[in-house]
Amino acid sequence: MGMPSGQAEFVVIANRLPVDRFIAPDGTVTWRTSPGGLVTALEPVMRRKGGAWIGWHGAPDETLEPFEHEGINLVPVPLSEQEFEEYYEGFSNATLWPLYHDVIAPPEFHREWWDSYVDVNQRFAAYASKIAKKGATVWVQDYQLQLVPSLLRGLRPDLSIGFFLHIPFPPRELFQQLPWRRQILEGLTGADLVGFQLPGAAQNFVRLVRERVGHKTHRGLIYLPDGRTVVARAYPISIDAKAFEELARTPGVDARAKEIRESLGSPKHVLLGVDRLDYTKGLRQRLRAFGELIRDGKIDVDDAVFVQVATPSRERVSQYRLLRDDIDRLVGRINGDVGRIGQQPITYLHASYPREEMAALYRAADVMVVTPLRDGMNLVAKEYVACRYDDDGALVLSEFAGAAAELRQAYRVNPYDINGMKAVLLEAIEADPRENARRMKAMRKHVVDHDIDHWATAFLDELTSTREPHDKKLRPSGGS
Ligand code: ADP
Ligand code: F6P
Repeated sequence: MGMPSGQAEFVVIANRLPVDRFIAPDGTVTWRTSPGGLVTALEPVMRRKGGAWIGWHGAPDETLEPFEHEGINLVPVPLSEQEFEEYYEGFSNATLWPLYHDVIAPPEFHREWWDSYVDVNQRFAAYASKIAKKGATVWVQDYQLQLVPSLLRGLRPDLSIGFFLHIPFPPRELFQQLPWRRQILEGLTGADLVGFQLPGAAQNFVRLVRERVGHKTHRGLIYLPDGRTVVARAYPISIDAKAFEELARTPGVDARAKEIRESLGSPKHVLLGVDRLDYTKGLRQRLRAFGELIRDGKIDVDDAVFVQVATPSRERVSQYRLLRDDIDRLVGRINGDVGRIGQQPITYLHASYPREEMAALYRAADVMVVTPLRDGMNLVAKEYVACRYDDDGALVLSEFAGAAAELRQAYRVNPYDINGMKAVLLEAIEADPRENARRMKAMRKHVVDHDIDHWATAFLDELTSTREPHDKKLRPSGGS
């Protein structure tokens, strides 16, 4: 590893670096922003705080030296092609991802995937152990790295170790399916502070630790035999709201938003969905609801266009392949059934766009439709709100998104209830602008007041606050 050892005072460890190394067919190498909410949220934190970011650079079978990218020190961790298949596509995204998202797709359990997960977690811990200065703060991110806190503590007991889970933490009834449930719980209790998106997730975790590992707990506190107290608490993640608003206010974005509406035929209503192409996002349900509203004559096909942008994601994992085919077919069917010449009700884009284009889409949309079946937070909802600086536009939001706990003035839907969703979509489309302004103003205030700095400061202040060893009498070691 070419990184000077023991130098970094603040270290973030995430499966991905904020940029992906992309090799074009002609061999040219470029760096692209990595997909997903984790990077959107953490990049501005790292820019302001400095420090090192340890993560995979997105290309298997390639070992790279540490480098600086736009002011952040990046430390690439190599993954072999086999680890990419077993640790990333397998255990992370075909075992844990569906298990933690209400088993919307059936999780697969394979022992060799678990072995690879352990190996890769050990590698990440070794990298952090090498570059962290004495007494440094290390912040481990997300479900791909749940063993790192305890592995790292074993190597470097001097460090302050935090962990944040960006996705939901499942209820015990589901978590118990996992053959390696105890190892995961013990992995996480290596951290001093374990953060979740919602209080219910923290409660799920503490209860499981009490039942399965046998540690004594009290509310959000876990008492360990070594005298450490682990805190488990909710820290709802957010975005750099000011930066999104500033971007949305630029003349270029404004002009592009107008251009987008014109290209769509200047309809009365533009509806927008923006997601990674993931089965947790409820794309099928929302497109069906919209198609049926046109079919039922509730919306005139000349009046409304639904723009659905779907970022390619985890494309070789079978559930994602099935989803892509399913959405391709559904969009074709709806456009074929209710469209007219020159009037396609759904504009579907399977692509990733720069942030300026995202902001222009948010500015162009009258109604933002965010309908996940389960989602840790959903930053897209917050991005839309941040960009609506005129307090106009309507947000339709699933009650199963973490963001629903905060964005209480959204038009709320249960995505499993297609008729209910049709009614709410219609309500949002036809709403009085004054009603929308009232709702948007309140949501904007919340997002601006609870931005990404607020999140990072709250978490890191708690992590670095000193805690004396507890003197609790411990239960005889138990658990199962
Ligand atoms: P997740 O982390 O599950 O992908 P989030 O909604 O929390 O979901 O975050 C998604 C992030 O990815 C947002 O910052 C959003 O702007 C970005 N994003 C989503 N779709 C696209 C796209 N097609 N092109 C570019 N960025 C996208
Ligand atoms: O928290 C959501 C998240 O899963 C991140 O951990 C992840 O980096 C991102 O979405 C995108 O997924 P992937 O890294 O698998 O492309």
